[in-house]
Amino acid sequence: MKQLIEQTKEKIESIRIETAQELENFRLKFLTKKGELNELFTAFRTVPNEEKKEVGQLLNKLKEFAQTRFDEEKEKLGTKEEETKPFDESLPGRKSDIGSKHPLTIVQNKMISIFEQMGFSISEGPEIEDDWHNFTALNFPENHPARDMQDTFFIDGDISLRTHTSSVQVRVMESEKPPIRTISPGRVYRNEAISARSNSFFHQIEGLYIDEGVSFADLKQTLFLFVQQFFGENTKVRFRPSYFPFTEPSAEMDIFLGTETEEDYRLTKGTGWLEILGCGMVDTNVLENCGIDTTKYSGFAFGMGVERITMFQYGVKDIRTLFENDIRFLEQFRSLG
Ligand code: PHE
Repeated sequence: MKQLIEQTKEKIESIRIETAQELENFRLKFLTKKGELNELFTAFRTVPNEEKKEVGQLLNKLKEFAQTRFDEEKEKLGTKEEETKPFDESLPGRKSDIGSKHPLTIVQNKMISIFEQMGFSISEGPEIEDDWHNFTALNFPENHPARDMQDTFFIDGDISLRTHTSSVQVRVMESEKPPIRTISPGRVYRNEAISARSNSFFHQIEGLYIDEGVSFADLKQTLFLFVQQFFGENTKVRFRPSYFPFTEPSAEMDIFLGTETEEDYRLTKGTGWLEILGCGMVDTNVLENCGIDTTKYSGFAFGMGVERITMFQYGVKDIRTLFENDIRFLEQFRSLG
């Protein structure tokens, strides 16, 4: 009996298993009810009692041995099969995830294209700026309280992170001759407490138009055209007097939402009007600072926050969600970009 067990073990060890069929043959030969192992178990009944313990153990080990070989070969064949599986050209393709434009980009692109149609070019400049371009040229006198209007991140000496993209317009005025018609989109930084309504950085689009005989009527008409195209033809606007060091006169422009829905009521604080931008006629001091002849030229400027308008457009209640890059939030804009 012991010899028989030993011989069977050798067979199990040496049998060739390279195909699924050979694996099945192995199973039939050893592991089924009619297989060789079961025959041995039947024969075991005739083993004399004093040998039963030892032979029983050998038999159990043999069974385990056969099962292990079967399992191992099965796994090997499985992976082989995967590797050699022929490519099925009739299967529908797997769609790759291509992402979507960020809502701020969608809104910014739309704004830019409207101004481009009106003949504005695009200008860009550094985010780390010197005092001259961010403040002094723009008529913020040194130690003047107007500087506190924009909480600044100072870096070193007179270097800071730009607080608005008006700094880019100074650069354009210094290097180009009128007529100038340009918008400067870009990221700006303010040292403000972060909350649902304000972040330490955001994006602006500021515009500048300088030519002979530019008037406040031109400013109004340009912004009015923009609003009609961006928010819809029948959008009502109003201008309120305001103050900026670099424009005189200065104004803020509101669009009318009404107070019918709860959301409009909340956004407009019950007035029906939502402020969307600051604007004004470029102060003659600024033009002179940039070497522009004020006896010949005048100009207007305006600036708006991209986040504010994006939040209004898409009903985003917390500015921070625009910067967290949560895929679940961003995915919602897939069809728009
Ligand atoms: N620079 C101003 C700001 O950051 C916006 C503005 C631009 C106002 C141009 C008037 C004219 O708030």
